[in-house]
Amino acid sequence: MKGQPVTSIDATDIAIVAEGLVKTFGTTRAVDGVDLRVDRGTVYGVLGPNGAGKTTTISMLTTLLRPDGGRASIFGHDVIDEPDVVRQLIGVTGQDASVDEKISGIENMVVFGRLLGLGRQGAKRRGLDLLDAFGLAEAATRPVAKYSGGMRRRLDLASSLIAQPPLIFLDEPTTGLDPRTRGQMWDVIRDLVANGSTVLLTTQYLDEADHLADRIAVIDRGRVVAEGTANDLKALVGTATLQLALADAAVTDAALATTEHVLGTRASATPERGHITAPMADPERITDLLIALRTQGIRLAEVSVERPTLDEVFMTITGHGTADPQTEITGKVAA
Ligand SMILES: Nc1ncnc2c1ncn2[C@@H]1O[C@H](COP(=O)(O)OP(=O)(O)OP(=O)(O)O)[C@@H](O)[C@H]1O
Ligand SMILES: [Mg+2]
Repeated sequence: MKGQPVTSIDATDIAIVAEGLVKTFGTTRAVDGVDLRVDRGTVYGVLGPNGAGKTTTISMLTTLLRPDGGRASIFGHDVIDEPDVVRQLIGVTGQDASVDEKISGIENMVVFGRLLGLGRQGAKRRGLDLLDAFGLAEAATRPVAKYSGGMRRRLDLASSLIAQPPLIFLDEPTTGLDPRTRGQMWDVIRDLVANGSTVLLTTQYLDEADHLADRIAVIDRGRVVAEGTANDLKALVGTATLQLALADAAVTDAALATTEHVLGTRASATPERGHITAPMADPERITDLLIALRTQGIRLAEVSVERPTLDEVFMTITGHGTADPQTEITGKVAA
């Protein structure tokens, strides 16, 4: 997996360029003028709710769908004019696993390797190495029908890597996985980049983009509505949200005023329950706030700091939510 120079990509340090990509299905503009620029050797996150246009965008970048407008190139090769070259430079792991249930993990790897032009022995050797790297060595000879969801995802990813592509597309690689398996997947993705690959991944989870991606594009209804590092995006909503539960709800107004004064931001309150919520750009200020509240004799029942959720990022950027409560995974469960 070491970064062997591939002649056709030497000329550019830009892995993906998309300009004004458009795809319509009937009256739906699934992708409505998307621009992207992904530097070689980075992880790029495409973040958006169900139906935002993530998979459709990937399908155009990977030559599976022809754009209705705009253009895109992979390491300088146009996806419409040079689809065969583009296909040699990429690996794709789809939202729906493409592995064959009836045969074993290693047999799947050999099938993919053969399709990509490897010899049988070479495909088997590399297949076993990859299965081992993804913790599937013991399950290698078991039929895939008996794999768990997380094992299937890892097999799907392994199969897309058998030709050692310089650019890897991962469409929601961790949706539906438990936290531990998600963590393993993140490690695998980091290893790929450490070994010289470029990765574009889509996700519905801000924390996933946050942990993995060098840069993130937020897409909504087929358009890029924000682009930048995770910190850039979080700065839009404050880096975190401070939650205060007051011991006595009667002093909510006073506590709210103090919170806004000390943090220098607008806060909101639910007076009947004595809860205050405030965006917090600078976590250091929390100490000042706690001292100020104590000085005023305002006692707290609970203090917590929560990272912004995808929904909050969306609300801030687009003025509407992601319309899918399931996407909120870093916030606490609604009371
Ligand atoms: N083959 C198709 N025919 C008709 N409409 C489609 C087709 N593929 C996608 N769409 C529509 O295009 C829009 C974008 O879909 P897309 O699959 O790209 O979203 P997504 O961001 O990948 O969503 P998800 O998070 O649910 O995977 C949706 O409104 C979807 O219904
Ligand atoms: Mg999708």
